[in-house]
This record gives sequence, C-alpha cells and structure tokens, in this order.
Amino acid sequence: MEFALLNGEIIERSEAKVDVEDRGYQFGDGVYEVIRIYNGKMFTIDEHLKRFVKSADSIGISIPFTSLQLLEMLEELLIKNKLETGNIYMQVTRGISPRNHLFPTGNVEPTLVAYTIKGVRPLDSLKSGVKAILTEDLRWLRCDIKSLNLLGNLLAKQKASEEGCFEAIQHRGQDVTEGSSSNIFIVKDGSVITHESNNLILKGITKDVILELCTKNNIQVQERTFSLAELEEAEEVFLSSTTAEVMPIIEIDGKKIRAGVPGPINKKLQELFEKEIEKQCGLLVDKV
Ligand code: PDD
Repeated sequence: MEFALLNGEIIERSEAKVDVEDRGYQFGDGVYEVIRIYNGKMFTIDEHLKRFVKSADSIGISIPFTSLQLLEMLEELLIKNKLETGNIYMQVTRGISPRNHLFPTGNVEPTLVAYTIKGVRPLDSLKSGVKAILTEDLRWLRCDIKSLNLLGNLLAKQKASEEGCFEAIQHRGQDVTEGSSSNIFIVKDGSVITHESNNLILKGITKDVILELCTKNNIQVQERTFSLAELEEAEEVFLSSTTAEVMPIIEIDGKKIRAGVPGPINKKLQELFEKEIEKQCGLLVDKV
C-alpha cells in the first residue's frame, strides 16, 4: 500500500484528494520541492526545507509546521512507503476558498501534500549525455520562487521533447538563463560558468552543491550571466537538477559539442557529486 502526507497526517495515497476550490488547483497558488532519495535517505534535505519555507514566505504562505516537523513527517512517509531510490514531491498551497483572485481572508489553512515516487538514477544519460534545444524564456520575473505555476517551463520542455531532446535551454534575448527544469553550466577556458542566483532563475540546490565542489577542488567558478555566443563556443555544457544530477549536454539545436562526447570537467564533477551522495546517503551500488 502507498501512503501520502496530507496536512500533517499520513494516509492511504488513494485517499489524498484535492478540493476543486484548492487555490493550488485553480491558480497555481503555491510552491513545491522535489527531494532526491538514495538508499532510503534524503539528499540535501536541509537545503530543500529552507528553500521550501523561503518560497512560501515570498508569496505570503505560512507553512503550518516547523521544518523539524516536516522532516519527521517526510522520514515517516519514506519508511512507510519503503522508498529506496526515487523522489519525494511536496507542495503547499494557500488552501481552499471560494474562487477569488484576492487572497482569502480569515482562517484558511494552507494545504500541504507530500508523496513518494520510485525512480532510478538516469545512469545511461549521465554517461552518454543528452541533447537540448534553445528557446526564448517566456516566464515571469520571479523564477527564484519554486512556484507551482510552471506553464512557461512546460511549454519549453514539451518543445524540446517534440524535437527529440531532453531539455530546453532558455534565454532572454542574448542571455542564457536556465533549463526548463534545470540549471545550465558552461566551461570556458577551464572555468565553470553558471547564471548568478537572482530573480531570473531558480537557485538550484544541485547547482550550489556543484559550485561548492568546484571551489573545494580547485576548479575555477564564475556565477555570472553568459551569452548565447559563449554557449555556442563552450568547451563543455552540462545541466544540473535534483533528478538529473550533473548531466552532460552533447548537442544543442543539432550542433554537437566536443564531437558529442561528455567533457573532462563534467566527468570529474559527476565523480565528486557521487562522493557527496555517498557522504550523505551511503554507498551507491551503480555509478556513472
Ligand atoms: N526542477 N531550475 C528549474 C526551473 C527547475 O525546475 C529546477 C528543478 C532546477 C534545479 O533545481 P534543483 O537542483 O534544486 O533540483 C532549476 C525539479 C527537479 C522539478 O521541477 O522536477
């Protein structure tokens, strides 16, 4: 039997239902997190909980549990669902209220939901790399909030998929921002470059782990905006996310990067990233 967390209670997943007037359902009025599980343990959980609270705060939703309570509930959910490898999806919305653009007045409790999803590491793609397309970034100007409103991201990802690609690299004019569900990195003159964490991108937790690994291992890093021209001339390109880890990009809009082979810095970072997973969650059976 599968379980889900609904407003502090762990119940049978098939019983976890959303009201038609939940503001998450009607307006996308909420925020979410995706947390990776290796060996039954949560990777970078403190960072995910911090970002969850920060995203909620930034749209005026007060999560009715402390981070410690959330942590304990998620741990219980993991044990009940016997999840070894996969993800936890967690979201909070502004709650249930008659449809109105204005925030509800009175005591409307936020709706908090979490459930687990089984899923192995994408080892084949991590080894051989994935293809991407370029697409104009059509999203709003608060991409730092991990909001449920993902239409811009969905349209970009769908376009990539229809062109036989894994990811859409978004850009505002000449500036590269981020992927539809990932952060984007290039290597230029041996330096790792990725967009600074501001309102135009999500401050990825995987991105921050990678930047820290670079710094600790004497790999030069620059957090700054880079252009489409720099992307085109890059020595290596890769993306990062909770589910895709550190994924090589070997082709963009049909043009191969490094003759379509993942680069040495990317491979080194994959190795360091696996060590970081093992530090937090125990030994991995299969590695890149
Ligand atoms: N996506 N940028 C966007 C727009 C994202 O949606 C994500 C993650 C990232 C990477 O963030 P992190 O390293 O913290 O996962 C960057 C998640 C996995 C998702 O929506 O499924």
